[in-house]
Amino acid sequence: MKNESASVKRFHLGAPPVPTETVVEHIPEQPIAEMPLGTLTREAGPICWRIPLGADAVVYGLGQRVRGMNKRGFRYRSFCSDDPSHTPDKEALYGAHDFWVVWDAGKWYGAFVDTPGAIQYDVGFEVRDRMTVVVTHGCGDLYYFEGSFEGIVRRYRQLIGKAYAPPKWAFGYQQSRWGYVNEADIRAVQSGFDAHDIPLDAIYMDIDYMERYKDFTVDAHRFPDLPGLAGALKAEGIRLIPIIDAGVKIEPGYSIYEEGLERQAFCTDASGKPFVAAVWPGRVHFPDFLNPEAAEWFGDQYAWLMDQGIEGFWNDMNEPAIFYSESGLETALEYLCRQRGENLDIHGFFKLKDTILGLANSPEDYQALHHRLPNGTRISHEAVHNLYGYKMSRAAAEGILRKNPGMRPFLITRASHAGLAKHTGIWTGDNQSLWEHLLLNIQMMPALGMMGFLYAGADVGGFGGHASAELMVRWMQFAVFTPLFRNHSALGTRPQEPWAFDALSLAQMRSAIRLRYAFLPYLYSAFMQSVLKDALLMAPLSYAYTDAASLRIEDQLLFGEDVMLAPVYVQNARGRAVYLPEPMAFFPMTDYEHLEADFMDKARILDAGHHYIEVPEDTIPLFIRPDHIICFAPPANRTAAMASPEALTVFGYVRTQATHALYDDDGVSLAYQDSDSEGAHHTVIHVALEGEALSLSVDTYNARLQTVCVLNIEDSGKITTCIQSHPRTQVHMV
Ligand code: GLC
Repeated sequence: MKNESASVKRFHLGAPPVPTETVVEHIPEQPIAEMPLGTLTREAGPICWRIPLGADAVVYGLGQRVRGMNKRGFRYRSFCSDDPSHTPDKEALYGAHDFWVVWDAGKWYGAFVDTPGAIQYDVGFEVRDRMTVVVTHGCGDLYYFEGSFEGIVRRYRQLIGKAYAPPKWAFGYQQSRWGYVNEADIRAVQSGFDAHDIPLDAIYMDIDYMERYKDFTVDAHRFPDLPGLAGALKAEGIRLIPIIDAGVKIEPGYSIYEEGLERQAFCTDASGKPFVAAVWPGRVHFPDFLNPEAAEWFGDQYAWLMDQGIEGFWNDMNEPAIFYSESGLETALEYLCRQRGENLDIHGFFKLKDTILGLANSPEDYQALHHRLPNGTRISHEAVHNLYGYKMSRAAAEGILRKNPGMRPFLITRASHAGLAKHTGIWTGDNQSLWEHLLLNIQMMPALGMMGFLYAGADVGGFGGHASAELMVRWMQFAVFTPLFRNHSALGTRPQEPWAFDALSLAQMRSAIRLRYAFLPYLYSAFMQSVLKDALLMAPLSYAYTDAASLRIEDQLLFGEDVMLAPVYVQNARGRAVYLPEPMAFFPMTDYEHLEADFMDKARILDAGHHYIEVPEDTIPLFIRPDHIICFAPPANRTAAMASPEALTVFGYVRTQATHALYDDDGVSLAYQDSDSEGAHHTVIHVALEGEALSLSVDTYNARLQTVCVLNIEDSGKITTCIQSHPRTQVHMV
């Protein structure tokens, strides 16, 4: 890819009540009047930016949102929201993701709004040729970029700091369910994977492991020996990952509650009394993560679980989600009581209904909730709402790092803000077992990566609702490529472990998961290079191609620098339409054991343009870009067993020559963050085609790597192979 740079300008909108600490580089301020595009005005409090959209303009980004990759045609709101129904009419999900890139009239530009409060977007909804951005609290900074798509993404990502990279084991398959309630359930999951010989690296513990949903407690009946369990699993290469929720149960004698009170570490109401809301445990207080002392105190609590052998966490309900507040419930109950005996007409009945439904996550509660700033002043939560989940997870990441200095923390979170991208990964919350949500997962991945959330993924198979076997298989086939590959489902839904389905589907899921592990050397390398180069791992086609069709393809992705994906996301489909911006090698993969045979027998070059490809249920369609190569290693059942593979099989579409530098490192330390990182290694694979002869050279640090086998498909459709053994004494050409 080209390495074009992009320009950036900063416009200061006003001082936020709390610094977001998102941007790590100082960009000089420009007067607002000099905004090169549209009109930027202050309208009473809010800032309003009206941007003209040309007839063919395409708007990418805005992170975690419903709808397609091109965001044009709808309204969105940045206001971290606990909403488990991701229907296309929803303006806000869990993230405050405010970076976008536009292609208009042959030029790319981008923008990023760094603010703690809400933003309202109208992307050609009211008026088709206009985008309006309203920064509700009128504070923060607006950054404006020009350059190439890739250059703008890189510049933005440089501004916010290097994206979070988890430990290498986090690229393995992870199994979760709200419903594994005790040690026996967790052990049954492990034995299920063992019995079916399916790779696994982590099992999640949802809220039931806690004693009455109290953070940093473990229910002694359900988990009588957590250290023993965590240790036994760790010995098998499997991590246990407990959930931590934002709300702290109000319970005299519960140490976290008592300490929080004593330290004045909880959010309050306007008068300074700890604010009472309710979530899973009933009444809770919310730690005041915007207060550095409270954040540090909460972050330090993770050590208690780490001392019991826990190495990773998921932070949840941190928008924060509020079932009801004490005062909101009181007012509602009073109102309801007054309705007894009333003849409720249309207005009366709807008001009654809204009184109940409006209890959760109410604007009044977000206004009433207050934070105490280090200088002692109190501010309403509403104006800084979008920082809450970010600051919780940052506090956690920093606490984990204090406990385990120099090592990569494993942490995913539900609510997020751009500032968090350098600290943790995210999962995309409570989706449903719907084909539409598989497509949403496909379309959302590039927008998350643009924000800086490269380590991301959806609940594979869907969280709510019942997954069909076919949906599970197709979703897994796509998730082979998502950095976070976690199967998670809700209480009461059809079980989603691979063996909960018929034998054929189980075999297909097993093949997909094993292919994920076989692809790990490539996937990890591509991921880390995206982190290090501030690039996208999963991108719209227009990241590399700017022809008219590439700008509008909504269901294909570029993966790394070498691959294009065209996942199947339609029920009963046995094929799909695919668009190729240039000739590529179509590689229909079934499983690792048949990978070479799949390539030899079924791979072929497709010309640029539109095609229909057959994709049977057991097949993952993959495309290799011209003069590019990808590689696979023999899969194991744990990521740890895949370190330093002994053999690599390289598949390529090489017209003249291709070089691939496969990155690797220790997979656990933060050494990769130093520019002259000593822990990093590259295996450089060079393949050249001259006439009929394919030659291969491999420059590797890996003492164990014994053979590299290349299978190449030529424009003529011929497959050539070339095998090299190490030490390089023998080059065998076929
Ligand atoms: C929330 C989370 C979900 C979790 C559930 C119970 O809905 O998004 O992943 O399983 O809470 O903790």
